[in-house]
Amino acid sequence: MESNYNNSDKKIGVFTSGGDAPGMNAAVRAVVRSALHKDWKITGINRGYQGLIKGNFNELTSQSVSNIIQRGGTILKSARSEEFRTEEGRAKAAENLKEEGLDALVAIGGDGTFQGASMLNEEHGIHVVGIPGTIDNDLVGSDETIGYDTALNTAMDNIDKIRDTADAHDRLFLVEVMGRDAGFIALETGIASGAELILLPESLQEIPEIKRSLNEVLKDHLRSSLVVVAEGDETGGAMKLADKIKDDFADYDMRVCILGHTQRGGRPTARDRVLASRLGSAAVNALEDGHTNVMVGVVNNKIKISPIKMAWSKKKQINYELLELSQILR
Ligand code: F6P
Repeated sequence: MESNYNNSDKKIGVFTSGGDAPGMNAAVRAVVRSALHKDWKITGINRGYQGLIKGNFNELTSQSVSNIIQRGGTILKSARSEEFRTEEGRAKAAENLKEEGLDALVAIGGDGTFQGASMLNEEHGIHVVGIPGTIDNDLVGSDETIGYDTALNTAMDNIDKIRDTADAHDRLFLVEVMGRDAGFIALETGIASGAELILLPESLQEIPEIKRSLNEVLKDHLRSSLVVVAEGDETGGAMKLADKIKDDFADYDMRVCILGHTQRGGRPTARDRVLASRLGSAAVNALEDGHTNVMVGVVNNKIKISPIKMAWSKKKQINYELLELSQILR
């Protein structure tokens, strides 16, 4: 976890990779300005690992990151690179990094990004520090990831709108939110929007049990009801669920809404901008202190440095107390 990467005249690279998340720009800005503050040089790598392989590098200045803290997406672009999954691809990326004279890399992304960074470190000795940026919030080592709070608020706003129309027609709505392998978004938006039922990959519910719970909720009177379903739920998502239960709930005018990529875009919330700013600066400090192959996170409101491997090899637990609470409050 520690390296001898502690000399003065440094040049580091920064890139964003995998699914973009609101607040990534704020993190890039913080990395760039923190590095410049230490009189280091900083290079932006465009389009994640694909850009590393293609040598898509640009020197960044303080000006390059002006006026981006409020913007969603990522000015450095993102990509999912198939080529980087091959040994040849990673060797090419490492060669480009050395040629460019980069001493270390700051990788902003999720579990796939960090697996790639670990491989670059282990196979080619590249110094890496990860910053957790994913709306899914599924990385061990940080209480929250950049983009999660914005995605929650976007999903909640949209579900509030759905509730209005659902209520007008006394309809049953199945709303699917993102979360391929994790139910963090579904759980917290479900609570925040007063969903009658929340379905997550972490709390396996068979179809008969789901039908029982829904009947329970609907039995007293006809009114609007919302089920929030994580895309990675066992049922296969909202469309498949609708198919499986439609005959039993034929009396309800059921509708499905998939919020999809709306949750990935938009202006980051203040909370995400502050988190990204703290983590961007922490990543640069971690490099200065000689850390490598680590991820910076915030745990109990304090910066925490943990092995990058922990972030992708361990499963972050949802808060089961919140799930119980949602059942009491529905
Ligand atoms: O990992 C973040 C995420 O938004 C997941 O929740 C979702 O399943 C996936 O990315 C979608 O990826 P893509 O943009 O490649 O369709």
